[in-house]
Amino acid sequence: MRTSDHSATSATTPAGADPLRDVDPALRRSFDLRLARYGDDLRRGLQVVYGERADDLFERVLQSVAAAMEQRPEDLRERDEARLLRPDWLQDPGMLAYVAYADRFAGDLAGVRSHLDHLDSLGVTHLHLMPLLDPRPGDSDGGYAVRDYRTVRADLGTMDDVAALARDLHARGISLELDLVLNHVAREHEWAVRARAGEQRYRDYFRVYPDRTEPDRWEESLPEVFPDFAPGNFTWDDELDGWVWTTFNAFQWDVDWSNPDVFCEYLDIILFLANQGVDVLRLDAIAFTWKRLGTDCQNQPEVHYLTRALRAAARIAAPALAFKAEAIVGPQDLIEYLGTGENWGLVSETAYHNSLMVQLWSALAARDTSLLATALAAFPAKPSRTTWCTYVRCHDDIGWAVTDDDAAAVGLNGFAHRAFLSDFYSGSFPGSFARGLVFQHNPATGDARISGSLASLAGLERALEDGDSAAEALAVRRILMLHAVMMGFGGVPLLYMGDEIALMNDPEWADDPAHAGDNRWVHRPRMDWEALGRIEAELAKGEETPLSAQARVLAGIRHLAAVRARTPQLHASVESVIVGGHDHRLLLLRRDHPRGSMAQLYSFAPEPVSIDPGVLRGIVGAQPAELLTSTVWDLEVPEITVSPYGALWFVHR
Ligand code: GLC
Repeated sequence: MRTSDHSATSATTPAGADPLRDVDPALRRSFDLRLARYGDDLRRGLQVVYGERADDLFERVLQSVAAAMEQRPEDLRERDEARLLRPDWLQDPGMLAYVAYADRFAGDLAGVRSHLDHLDSLGVTHLHLMPLLDPRPGDSDGGYAVRDYRTVRADLGTMDDVAALARDLHARGISLELDLVLNHVAREHEWAVRARAGEQRYRDYFRVYPDRTEPDRWEESLPEVFPDFAPGNFTWDDELDGWVWTTFNAFQWDVDWSNPDVFCEYLDIILFLANQGVDVLRLDAIAFTWKRLGTDCQNQPEVHYLTRALRAAARIAAPALAFKAEAIVGPQDLIEYLGTGENWGLVSETAYHNSLMVQLWSALAARDTSLLATALAAFPAKPSRTTWCTYVRCHDDIGWAVTDDDAAAVGLNGFAHRAFLSDFYSGSFPGSFARGLVFQHNPATGDARISGSLASLAGLERALEDGDSAAEALAVRRILMLHAVMMGFGGVPLLYMGDEIALMNDPEWADDPAHAGDNRWVHRPRMDWEALGRIEAELAKGEETPLSAQARVLAGIRHLAAVRARTPQLHASVESVIVGGHDHRLLLLRRDHPRGSMAQLYSFAPEPVSIDPGVLRGIVGAQPAELLTSTVWDLEVPEITVSPYGALWFVHR
């Protein structure tokens, strides 16, 4: 039987070998059904990007897909079926992600397997392990310069350990996410090595230029990602005898996605990782994968057609797999990663909500939510089947992605506000509670990004150092309010390792010479299991003794996660809508769910704020339940008061 015998689709293989000649009929049936469902998406994606080469490529892709399907372990095939029955699994309010470096969390993969109880205790249902595939030796940009995508970093374990971990996680109802760096490979990757050895096939995997003529033309419109330690976007390589495109560090070589061989290589890697039990691939630096002269070479339309084709192929071979786009770009560009127009809902299932994160810190410094509200109100709606990843901190710096237009709309000067935020979070602004470090100050643009752990940026480090218990209490409230927004906004909240016990800036971050030049390591600490033990003991003793700040944070985060998981209004298919017209220190979100409306009220002020509850009444009625305190509120009053940095989740009763 040939795949083209299947009448339900126009997206069948052209004449060619049947990729599933002698396979089990059940598998064959799945292949045919999924091809009928996703074949057109695949073909369209390939056609837009590769034009007349698409037909051949389609054939090659199906060969890879069929091979991966045959190799897929039985338990993962079952997982595929289960996922197909629960297409909204990423949108479930029970979703809570934990993000950690395997070594910093628990030494190695075996260590991670022995610490899963901690994840259970937080209510975690998804684990993103930061880059663990074999990196180049020395500085590897935190593992984002990969030498071999099919091998695990030796000190962490093996690919078999990944598969074993995935099985353990799955047994506990936890899914696994790994990074896949799409834009570049390490200079030490086999493709780059062979390119330098003169093999034309592999030179064609990269963008190599004999002299500066071409690079200079491209540079005219290209920004710099790491102006401090990797200025420019091209690197001369003696062995290669050419300038190679390197958007990030000199040792991270951008691959050339216009070459169909590169597409096939990556597809095979994706399917290989899926077959180890990986549930989500974080598509690192995806925005940069397509280059177009005269542009900033980010967010080009081809990026989305490439993703669409990769996803369609993956949906046939391993429908349990989802994609997460790592695109730290403006709202209009960002929404494309979840799909607009003909790519609506056909690209990544989830993407980082960078704007929300940036705006939270901005509102906190300014004690004013006007800019946050303006920016989020103008945010385009996402496809209803897709999901944001919401977060307050991650392993990267915070770049002040506040547009001049949004700033102007609330009477601010964009440049001045961004400078204020850098000053505030580096702690130099008078009265600032934060302790951060400036990352990649760019004198040409005035940009100054910020590194620092959530707890240190939120004021805990300074408060504890000053022995100021009032400041400490406020810092704890800030930390919990930020987590409440992250968990209440809708989407997969990303709990960043260590934030659950308010780990502060790592004073030893620069001790490792491979890290010393990159202060993002200040907020990539090692898990403090001793501290966790102390905190757990404190919490076990009950409430008689006053709890430490760390214990209050841990208890608070667990509580938020537990309430979140049982709140249907937080299903991510529903959008959070910004409601304005109240005190500028408060943020009011409205979620209209068929099970009843929800209103969330957050305060960005260190003092109590009183408001007329009329607007709340209009959303959740006069006697709503407040979920975080399990109390019923009477809103038939002239005034209610929100406590400093308070968070309230009201639902209609
Ligand atoms: C992503 C990662 C960042 C890395 C960059 C280059 O933005 O989050 O840590 O430096 O990609 O791979």
